[in-house]
Amino acid sequence: MGNNKDNYRQIAIDGPAGAGKSTIARMIAEKLGFYYLDTGAMYRAVAYKALASGISLHDEHRVADLARHLTIQLDHSNKQSVFCDGEDITAKIRDVQVSRAVSTVASYPGVRERLVELQRLEAQKGNVVMDGRDIGTHVLPGAKIKIFLTASPEERAHRRYQEISKTNHDISFEQVLADLEKRDALDSQRQYAPLKPAEDAIIVDTTGLTIEGVVTKIIEIIRGDRS
Ligand code: DC
Repeated sequence: MGNNKDNYRQIAIDGPAGAGKSTIARMIAEKLGFYYLDTGAMYRAVAYKALASGISLHDEHRVADLARHLTIQLDHSNKQSVFCDGEDITAKIRDVQVSRAVSTVASYPGVRERLVELQRLEAQKGNVVMDGRDIGTHVLPGAKIKIFLTASPEERAHRRYQEISKTNHDISFEQVLADLEKRDALDSQRQYAPLKPAEDAIIVDTTGLTIEGVVTKIIEIIRGDRS
């Protein structure tokens, strides 16, 4: 553990898709008065832009080049809007096509190096709660608190399905589960900065817990660390 050089407090929340990271991280940031950074949104922005530009997802060189030249702005206010080269892509990055493409672009070292650089710059702005896959292991290894949030694949798929089916009536629960398991496998088996808990992370299994229950549990962990 230990402090980072700027003495800002950093809370890293990692875990697989659908574990509730963004909702929980946002609520914790709000309670603590920290700002929140959704790093998954940055990988999604690259995937969205590659799809929109007609770049083949398998062209690692071009996708990495795209990531290096992209302007990504995350608005830290309540709406967490995401802008890419000035375009508001907040809703677009949640499309099923982007969700299916994102693990591929996130596996490219050139993409990760660029986004990690931006994420570390963001962390120099103040106290932060950052969520992702490699925050505790790679982006902010000096984070004071590292939480690894998880839940069973069925529960995670169920949560995702409830969310997605509000706007997409063509997708089935089985499809959501299959997509999620595929993404889990890609994210945890990639060579560079794979999804895994940091050695000093606290694992929090959210299966069967309410969002409020998880938030309370994590706030207790943070307060316990302070005393
Ligand atoms: O959290 P999310 O579902 O929005 O993340 C989208 C994808 O981005 C996910 O498949 C893994 C990848 N990702 C990553 O590799 N590293 C991060 N720090 C955050 C997300």
